[in-house]
Amino acid sequence: MAGNGSENGAPAAHGGQLDLPIRPRRNRRTAALRAMVRETHVTPADLILPLFVVDGRDVREEVKSMPGTSRLSRDRIVAQARTAHALGIPAVALFPVIDEGLKDAHATEGANPDGLLQLTVADLKQAVPDMLVITDVAMDPYSSDGHDGLVVDGEIVNDPSVDILCGMAVTQAEAGADLVAPSDMMDGRVGFIRDALDDAGFTDTGILAYSAKYASAFYGPFRDALDSAPKHGDKKSYQMDPANRREALREVLLDLDEGADMVMVKPALPYLDVIAAVKQESTVPVAAYQVSGEYAMIKAAAANGWLDEAAVVMETVTAIKRAGADLILTYFAIDVARRVGA
Ligand code: PBG
Repeated sequence: MAGNGSENGAPAAHGGQLDLPIRPRRNRRTAALRAMVRETHVTPADLILPLFVVDGRDVREEVKSMPGTSRLSRDRIVAQARTAHALGIPAVALFPVIDEGLKDAHATEGANPDGLLQLTVADLKQAVPDMLVITDVAMDPYSSDGHDGLVVDGEIVNDPSVDILCGMAVTQAEAGADLVAPSDMMDGRVGFIRDALDDAGFTDTGILAYSAKYASAFYGPFRDALDSAPKHGDKKSYQMDPANRREALREVLLDLDEGADMVMVKPALPYLDVIAAVKQESTVPVAAYQVSGEYAMIKAAAANGWLDEAAVVMETVTAIKRAGADLILTYFAIDVARRVGA
């Protein structure tokens, strides 16, 4: 390189100035320059706010392992959705907290047209019609076993579970869900849910598939929020091994074949390489879920004064978008939207 070294190995300097024609720092000199050359912008339109809905009225119960996030009753969910909508957040993703007494092995309550989730969807679509409502399709909030599929002799059986999931998805569509989001990781569920929705006349209800959902230890606080931890065993026979990336592509390609309208990678920050790989293969929008444990880690460190919460949150969501996510589910959605403006 011309001029970058001298004969004795020291850099060539002129009055303390190096002969350096190329200086990347020029583009970082001022805030205006940095803003002009910034490659990734997170906007409120990228965000999806997950919400935990609980029975009752005027209820707000903070989730212990998720400070700043609460289980909300339907009326409060509507209020929270209005806040999010006003900030430009286009969608909420709903997760119901189900009474232990309503849980059974077949997650029967999940397909109750008058169930908590279905009623909340209807409330939201009436109160804030433009807010997109995404519902979770999985058995665990309703299952006495705490698994996403049906347990028979200690095994999570695939095909009977798919049948149950289809029933749940149809009642969610009936209630008005814009997108149903199967998070169960049973084989073939996207295709069968698509058929079930179409047969019931819901050809316009979309499917956001949790395609690459890993068997992650980062879901712990979510399971506290819903009281939905598996009563026995773990989820490794259906959720993916964190060590695998190519398998994520296999799952994504299958879900696309089966009719997924959007695909998801979950968790987000520990899986940026997977997000990037999925973005390359996917012909539909790619979502990433910054999950409860990712949220809890930031909150805990910030509470101790060890991290600057606002800065770290912006850095993480920006990284997730930079990796390739078109949409980000995050419990920080309202904070981020407030920060970046509409
Ligand atoms: C369950 C489901 C889980 C999450 C979303 N849907 C937990 C699990 O699979 O055990 C996790 C979300 C989070 O941790 O924020 N179907």
